[in-house]
Amino acid sequence: MDSTLPNPAAPKVTVVGTGYLGATHAICMAVLGFDVLGVDVDERKVAQLRAGKVPFFEPGLPEKLDRAMATGRLHFTTDFDEAAAFGDVHFVCVGTPQATDSSAAELKYVHAAFASLASRIDRKALLVGKSTVPIGTAARLTGMVQGLSPAGPELELAWNPEFLREGFAVEDTLHPDRLVFGVASEWAESQLRRIFHPLLADGTPLIVTDLATAELVKVAANSFLATKISFINAMAEVCEATGADVSLLARALSLDTRIGGRFLKPGLGFGGGCLPKDIRAFKHRAEELGVGQAVRFLGEVDSINNRRRTRSVDLIRELAGGTLSGVKVAALGAAFKPNSDDVRDAPALDVARLLYLEGASVTVYDPEANPNAHRTYPDLDYVGSLAEAVRHADVVALLTEWDEFREADPQDLGALVAHRRIFDGRHALNPDHYTAHGWEYRALGRPYQPAGRSGAVAAGTTGHGPEAPARTGAPETGQEGPFSQSH
Ligand SMILES: NC(=O)c1ccc[n+]([C@@H]2O[C@H](COP(=O)([O-])OP(=O)(O)OC[C@H]3O[C@@H](n4cnc5c(N)ncnc54)[C@H](O)[C@@H]3O)[C@@H](O)[C@H]2O)c1
Repeated sequence: MDSTLPNPAAPKVTVVGTGYLGATHAICMAVLGFDVLGVDVDERKVAQLRAGKVPFFEPGLPEKLDRAMATGRLHFTTDFDEAAAFGDVHFVCVGTPQATDSSAAELKYVHAAFASLASRIDRKALLVGKSTVPIGTAARLTGMVQGLSPAGPELELAWNPEFLREGFAVEDTLHPDRLVFGVASEWAESQLRRIFHPLLADGTPLIVTDLATAELVKVAANSFLATKISFINAMAEVCEATGADVSLLARALSLDTRIGGRFLKPGLGFGGGCLPKDIRAFKHRAEELGVGQAVRFLGEVDSINNRRRTRSVDLIRELAGGTLSGVKVAALGAAFKPNSDDVRDAPALDVARLLYLEGASVTVYDPEANPNAHRTYPDLDYVGSLAEAVRHADVVALLTEWDEFREADPQDLGALVAHRRIFDGRHALNPDHYTAHGWEYRALGRPYQPAGRSGAVAAGTTGHGPEAPARTGAPETGQEGPFSQSH
């Protein structure tokens, strides 16, 4: 689908906010053949991008950046005058984190970005929001930008929610499951159709909606995914009280074609810069709109998710013999999911922090997220390899399911630790491999598995030998893994 020939008639594109979403969008738009100007208020980030360096870890994106820069079609700036003069279609991709004093979305970056552009744009142009915002934001912003802009009503606004997953951002941008255009005019729709022509020509389904529906699609999708994850984690709580095994339960449920296995893997739950804050902001907005009761369950979804973190600490404490004081814990993983360096609301880092607060000596190793994690929690010890992390550990805690941890050899790890005790926070390991090598194995929602035993349920009763994937408790989830976020 990559285009290498510049098309002089194509609209010029600006992308405001060059973080995980915006940098990926800007780079991919240039690869698709558009002239693109990325804009950010963060001078450091802009300098890095100008130098051809992606400021975060995202597989495949550095290669696309190289390619886009080589075409001469991609530039970056901090100058809004330049952006306003350059663009025909301006995508706004700035952050919408949780507000500091409530569960609402913080919209100050969105307001600033739209205002900075609108006050400078003096001709017909389209502003397109991609950030995840509360329902009603786009309608309100339309009045604001048309009031601010010398172009008045000639400046139109549309919303194009984004569903990319970190770790698969390039693939999801170039081959999305669907496109959603929230528009207020045929002209706005036609502009978006021109921009996304390469994807539409490739057969990507398109849903054209009003502004409010487009905003709602995004938060509804994230709410559904979060609910599915918390559903199986709620079942894990029931399993813990009954001696049942949630990994077998999940496997059995996943084979029901009405249910499916994706996002049905039990474990430490969801995190990241989207799902947690998006469901909270949605609940908050629904309450403002007088329909809070309709999504009250999202509060439970959030609570179940957070309880998995404290319950993980309980299991690690039990493995350590009842107290965490002075216990050396190897925390494997800090990112909110593998193939990302994003530690925003990361369950892994939260568990590491809780262990530290209970007196454990915590050594963290994440293949990519150590620098971000260190900035967030400088009190923890960070090391540069798996071997360093587990050396002399009393308990090993797998908290983010990087392949490096899944594929580690229990015998080799066992030679390094002080005690062979492992907490598998992601149901990512084969417990039989570990127990056979003398490890005590614990996972959320599964019966305790002491060293030397080949599983709490006899292998024959599952229909799988100890080597079979089902014994890892992993339902079929597709390549991205069940905890990957769709945002
Ligand atoms: N990260 C994802 O996977 C993803 C997926 C779908 C949707 N989203 C949504 O996209 C939005 C951005 O998320 P992100 O993860 O890319 O955030 P991010 O924090 O990585 O990036 C936001 C960028 O916006 C910049 N910025 C802030 N104010 C600005 C302004 N006034 N002008 C120009 N730039 C400004 C920041 O400097 C930063 O570089 C959020 O609403 C998020 O919910 C994110």
